[in-house]
Amino acid sequence: MGQRPAEPTESELLVCIKCRGTGGCDADDRRPGRQLYDRLVGLALPEGTRLRAVECLQNCDHGNTVALRGPGRWTYVYGQLDAEEHADVLLEGLALYHGTEDGLIPWRQRPEHFKRNCVARVPPLGFTEPRLDPETER
Ligand code: FES
Repeated sequence: MGQRPAEPTESELLVCIKCRGTGGCDADDRRPGRQLYDRLVGLALPEGTRLRAVECLQNCDHGNTVALRGPGRWTYVYGQLDAEEHADVLLEGLALYHGTEDGLIPWRQRPEHFKRNCVARVPPLGFTEPRLDPETER
């Protein structure tokens, strides 16, 4: 059975299942990224969102890594995530993210982990570029 296509308004939580985390794999044969994904599978996602596994988000040296994205929203990449410690934080952040029109969670509302471990953010297709003043932008 193939994957269900995304609804146009859905937000996605992409979890790298190949990440080796920061502390090794301990007694569990699964990689830490897979452990995080499996933990999230067992939890209730915010309505209108979905979880997807991906192989490598190119942030391999900075712990378990995820991305949040959605139509018309900025995409955010976060690292340093621990399966036990941060699954609930991720779901809280995903709900906040999905509750915005553009993916920009107000700074004060962002989970502390999001404030300190954002790797990158990428604007949505069709974003409005900043106005550049050729006299001052040199
Ligand atoms: S293996 Fe997870 S970001 Fe590369």
